[in-house]
Amino acid sequence: MKRKDKNKRKKLPKHRFTAATADKYELYQLAVQSPEEDIDFLIDVCKSERGRTPRHFREDFCGTGLLTAAWIKRDPANTAEGFDIDPEPIEWGQARHFAELGEAAKRATIHLKDAREPSNTAPDVRCAQNFSYWVLKTRSEMLNYFNGVREDLADGGVFVIDLHGGPESIDVMEEETELEDEGFTYVWDQDRHWPVTGEARLFIHFRFPDGTEMNRAFKYKWRLWGLVELKDVLEDAGFDQVDCYWEGTDEDGESGNGVFTKESKGEHCAAYVAYLVALK
Ligand SMILES: C[S@@+](CC[C@H](N)C(=O)[O-])C[C@H]1O[C@@H](n2cnc3c(N)ncnc32)[C@H](O)[C@@H]1O
Repeated sequence: MKRKDKNKRKKLPKHRFTAATADKYELYQLAVQSPEEDIDFLIDVCKSERGRTPRHFREDFCGTGLLTAAWIKRDPANTAEGFDIDPEPIEWGQARHFAELGEAAKRATIHLKDAREPSNTAPDVRCAQNFSYWVLKTRSEMLNYFNGVREDLADGGVFVIDLHGGPESIDVMEEETELEDEGFTYVWDQDRHWPVTGEARLFIHFRFPDGTEMNRAFKYKWRLWGLVELKDVLEDAGFDQVDCYWEGTDEDGESGNGVFTKESKGEHCAAYVAYLVALK
């Protein structure tokens, strides 16, 4: 998973993790997830594009449901649904994110179901985060998913997907990010790439200060979709408007600053993360 910039970090004791003691879902959360920033973005986009505050949220490919739980916590008027086909992260999330919510957890429904299944209630805003929808490998599968999303959204609803791209995104390479405050190293491994199908085999490894490693903690076989082809498929699915939100840069002009704004052209860079926002 390409990391989005996580600008909020707590000081935590170093060396608290080793391969033997660490929990892969906790490490994943610390390394790549920023639920509060994601929710700010979703709400801002709904307000600016639709002039209203979204209440019912749907998270596709929700994994542990961290984002869904944060949505519920954000406002007592909020409700949510999450969809994932793997019981393991769902159970982990029930114990770690939803148990502490008490009664409020009843405002969320986590479905052990395919992300292409319909919602109980039409969502005001729906998202697929961290490129998970790239598990869909053909144009017809992607179009079928986007068609279903559009039909299922509330009138005036908003669908948000993230993506990564740039020439480095198809390289076979390993990118190490040392998370000093958390006390481990996150490794994004672009292990194999097949140009004819556009598929790639990707791993996440975690390395620890004591020299141990959690190898291949997460594995993905995805098609590497391009920004423009995804935009085309969203338009073919009949969304009224599809916009790209592009990340600004830090003062050094090199790294992303975590602030995404609407952009019609973008600029060349070796690796980027962006959002596509589709309006029903
Ligand atoms: C990369 S994780 C994403 C977790 C979380 N959404 C995030 O933002 O980090 C991908 C998740 O997609 C789930 N998944 C894969 N295929 C799916 C499908 N067809 N329907 C629903 N979930 C699926 C996997 O079980 C896994 O939990």
